[in-house]
Amino acid sequence: MARSSLVPLLYRYPPTCLAPERLYLYLHYLVECKDVPGDIVEIGCNLGGTAAVARNMTRRLGINKRYLCYDTFDGFIEQQFTNDVGLGTPTRNRHMFSGNSQKLVAKILRRHKADDVALIQGDITTIPDSKLPESCSVVLLDIDLAEPTYHALKRFWPRLAPGGVILVDDCPESTDWKARIGYSRFCQEAGLAEQYRHGMGVLVGAASH
Ligand SMILES: C[S@@+](CC[C@H](N)C(=O)[O-])C[C@H]1O[C@@H](n2cnc3c(N)ncnc32)[C@H](O)[C@@H]1O
Repeated sequence: MARSSLVPLLYRYPPTCLAPERLYLYLHYLVECKDVPGDIVEIGCNLGGTAAVARNMTRRLGINKRYLCYDTFDGFIEQQFTNDVGLGTPTRNRHMFSGNSQKLVAKILRRHKADDVALIQGDITTIPDSKLPESCSVVLLDIDLAEPTYHALKRFWPRLAPGGVILVDDCPESTDWKARIGYSRFCQEAGLAEQYRHGMGVLVGAASH
């Protein structure tokens, strides 16, 4: 049977990769920031499970902001992953999230009544500025690796509305993933305090930054 005909069965529950306490934190900030203007952005959406849950919640609560998802839809950029192997990420993780496609994610989102989520394909470090939002209220940055996390923060921090929040997944003190190194480097360079909740790095948009 073709994989596409199995979608309704395989993905009858939204396939989120977030740990429960981090999914809670993300949904919490979506509610807390409901009156902060700007798009909701998920960088690294994999199969779209978190986007489906979040978009259904925001619709039910009358939060009608655009929801944008960025992903390669084919896993890690080779060189970015190799850099993290040098920092301690096991090579066995190299092909996690590959074999995906934008078409499959669109189908899963449709299955969960979240087909108004916009999907943008590319490496978040090189996607042209014209494809990035002008202003964001909540950003979930979930691409696991140190260098692209750092570069994504450089690109999205100036776009964060005052009172908005960026959450960086995979930032506990000890884990195979090295997103924390990118988050920490960004905070140090920008003169921002590092804050961690439930293993996520947190940044709150100030009145002017
Ligand atoms: C942990 S998964 C995201 C999980 C998703 N947020 C969820 O909650 O279900 C990491 C994703 O980051 C994507 N990714 C990795 N490096 C990337 C890059 N440089 N640019 C865009 N996406 C990237 C991968 O393709 C993968 O889908």
